[in-house]
Amino acid sequence: MDRIRIVGGNALNGIIPISGAKNAALPLMIASLLTSDTLTLENVPHLADVEGLIRILGNHGVDIAVNGRREHQDGSYSRTVHFTCRTVADTTAPYELVSKMRASFWVIGPLLAREGQARVSLPGGCAIGTRPVDLFIEGLTALGAEMEIDGGYINAKAPKGGLIGARYTFPKVSVGATHVMLMAASLARGTTVIGNAAREPEVVDLANCLNAMGAKISGAGTSTITIEGVTSLSGARHRVLPDRIETGTYAMAVAMTGGDVTLSGTDISLLDTAIEAIRRAGAEVSAVEGGIRVIGHGDAIRPVDIVTEPFPGFPTDLQAQFMGLMTRANGISHVTETIFENRFMHVQELARLGAKITLSGQTARIEGVTRLRGAPVMATDLRASVSLVIGGLAAEGETMVSRVYHLDRGFERLEEKLTRCGAIVERISD
Ligand code: UD1
Repeated sequence: MDRIRIVGGNALNGIIPISGAKNAALPLMIASLLTSDTLTLENVPHLADVEGLIRILGNHGVDIAVNGRREHQDGSYSRTVHFTCRTVADTTAPYELVSKMRASFWVIGPLLAREGQARVSLPGGCAIGTRPVDLFIEGLTALGAEMEIDGGYINAKAPKGGLIGARYTFPKVSVGATHVMLMAASLARGTTVIGNAAREPEVVDLANCLNAMGAKISGAGTSTITIEGVTSLSGARHRVLPDRIETGTYAMAVAMTGGDVTLSGTDISLLDTAIEAIRRAGAEVSAVEGGIRVIGHGDAIRPVDIVTEPFPGFPTDLQAQFMGLMTRANGISHVTETIFENRFMHVQELARLGAKITLSGQTARIEGVTRLRGAPVMATDLRASVSLVIGGLAAEGETMVSRVYHLDRGFERLEEKLTRCGAIVERISD
């Protein structure tokens, strides 16, 4: 199993190219199940989760062709991938595949809409809380589907003639359930109005792509989305939006180590709340042509309290990284997690680097220390693992992060991007 070795202490200086968003690429890829034409996606990141979903879609009958594996001048790989599902080969998504990645459960929406039925294993994914699927069941039931849980699987069946548009308001905001409703309702008969929809930029990206395929969706990015069903969707060409979580992660890394880095190919407006928190912590962040410039001052980190919330609030996917930054603040800060239970697994690993963190319910109290010291640590989930990298970059001496397969799920060529900016980071393959 690969490990990552970091020798901390160097400031980061240079350019870091930001990849296409994993959390946009996954639902966009799944949308290819809705049409027999080719959906072409540009700026698809090369990540373990994307490769995993390619395998899963292949199982459903999607033909996949990849091109554009050329290295760009700025050092990023931009892949263009063509997805064609002439006919759905299988409406079952088996446990062996779905258990590895929670988002693959979302195939339930397009399979049900296009084929009238789906049998999908209950999901797995990151071990952050129980992550139920009740909202998916309620939403699809509102569209007329019969939903039944049997032996670890959900059997979903559309009424004769297909799903039927309806009004449905989510009792809780869910990104995944919003994606699934957009896809399912696009091919339903009549109009669907979703209340309390997720407003994340990735939802807007999916709606834009579906509209390019012929769907009639309005209001994405607000909490009420209206979808007028159409009888079929066509192919389209769509560019995956930049990864705001990767953007925020590197911005926090620079705030932590000090230095001057331009994050290219990204957009500051995707993460206003996080940028505001990074600024309050003392880093200078500004929009520049084609990206964002971050100037960090290393030791002069100020304590900032944050609370995770659905978009446009502070993203839960940046919570661990921000806590990493706060471990070296000049004072006490609080980080409150409201989206997922059990998303504090990084706390005990950060403590191994010398961080002083105490937990009380869903709030962590972080007493900043003047220095962290390198140590062996273990990645526990995708975002937690990168907070250890941020800690390691600022720690004195060597940090060895094990179980980096978590990182590979969501960060494209992390060690290369950091090394180019002066960090000492290397992958060790055992
Ligand atoms: C997506 C992101 C993930 C991010 C999360 C919240 C992808 C691939 N993943 O995950 O990185 O951390 O949004 O921004 O885009 N819930 C229920 N019942 C349901 C569904 C969800 O109670 O049926 C709960 C979850 O347990 C959680 C909350 O709703 O507490 C939000 O989850 P959700 O927005 O659905 O997260 P994902 O879409 O899985």
